[in-house]
Amino acid sequence: MDPLFSLPEEYVALRESVRALADKKIQPFAHDVDANARFPQEALDALQAAGLAAPHVPVEFGGEGADSLGVVIVIEEVARVCASSSLIPAVNKLGSVPLMLGGNDSQKERWLTQLAKGKGFSYCLSESEAGSDAAAMKTRAVKKGDGWVLNGSKKWISHAGVSEFYTVLASTDPEKGAKGITAFVVEKSDPGVSFGAPEKKMGFKGSPTREVYFDNVEIGDDRRISEIGGGFGLAMKTLDHTRITIAAQALGIAQGAFEVATKYAKERRQFGKPIFDFQAVQFMLADMAMEIEAARQLTYAAAVKSERGERDLTFFSAASKCFATDVAMKVTTDAVQVLGGYGYVNDYPVERMMRDAKLTQIYEGTNQIQRLVMARNLGVN
Ligand code: CAA
Repeated sequence: MDPLFSLPEEYVALRESVRALADKKIQPFAHDVDANARFPQEALDALQAAGLAAPHVPVEFGGEGADSLGVVIVIEEVARVCASSSLIPAVNKLGSVPLMLGGNDSQKERWLTQLAKGKGFSYCLSESEAGSDAAAMKTRAVKKGDGWVLNGSKKWISHAGVSEFYTVLASTDPEKGAKGITAFVVEKSDPGVSFGAPEKKMGFKGSPTREVYFDNVEIGDDRRISEIGGGFGLAMKTLDHTRITIAAQALGIAQGAFEVATKYAKERRQFGKPIFDFQAVQFMLADMAMEIEAARQLTYAAAVKSERGERDLTFFSAASKCFATDVAMKVTTDAVQVLGGYGYVNDYPVERMMRDAKLTQIYEGTNQIQRLVMARNLGVN
């Protein structure tokens, strides 16, 4: 067996176990979670019990120590049945990678052990006027004695209000732009932290997205997890590792939609035979399978580069996110087409998957930003 293009046995086993868990404990609630725009508590409970709510947390801090490819497989398999639920391990990774990359040992001990026990960790970069142009942020952290005072607000924060911990990027020197940004950990219980109303979204309805407000939030310097002025680089380095998890999510959504469409095409009869027997339908399904497999190969390659810290990670991470999420949008749209009228109503999950796929092209950097990042990193290897 050529190990280059086949998954080692431990990842195959991981996929089988996560798929079994997702089919049994997450999929049965996916429709209700979407229909009622409610947090997938059943998924959180099941993932936490299996050590999969934040599987990337190192063993020394009480986690599973899953590597980047392992986390990708977990997220892919959960997203195959419920995209909202797959944000649980994805957000927890996004929120805590800055700590893992920039924090000292006592900071890691303090927060990663809590994360492993089920306390969520969100990432606060975007603001209402600083989305793609993240360095234009206005949230300020001002030195006061040995500590800091934070004022401002962050927008589009996944799991705001649910998570206990927040990595917050704030400007400590507005004159310096991107080089005047610093990263801190803020806790939900810190006086002065509050949350906006949940956004009413097209998809990912089970994942709460809210603003986070900081009103004279006083924290010690032990909350700072980057060098002063080193926060933006840390935030970007984080995204290099975590955009791959969005690729994984898109991959799972696409795989789920493809499976529903294929099953339907074999059962649905028109003109006296299954619609699968018509070449027009076969070609759509063949294209879906081809594109999903290409997205999977690119995503897994990016995950391995993340684990090894390879020089071309920035390119591969952006490429995998961009490619897989564009594939998810196309595959889910075509899946709705294969199901026709039945695809457009919520008796089947493909319309939910199509709505969910759309967000993956937008968050963790729009696919236009991914192309910009790729272009800036052409030829780096
Ligand atoms: N690794 C390390 N450092 C990096 C870096 C990287 N990949 N990319 C940039 N930097 C550092 C560099 O040190 C650079 O300084 P130098 O000039 O010394 O090289 C500094 O950052 C500034 O970089 P740029 O000049 O490239 O910055 P820019 O202002 O042109 O913008 C950008 C860069 C790529 C457009 C960035 O703003 C960006 O990624 N925007 C999109 C924001 C985004 O992805 N938001 C997602 C929010 S999270 C979310 O959506 C999660 C969720 O809900 C689940």
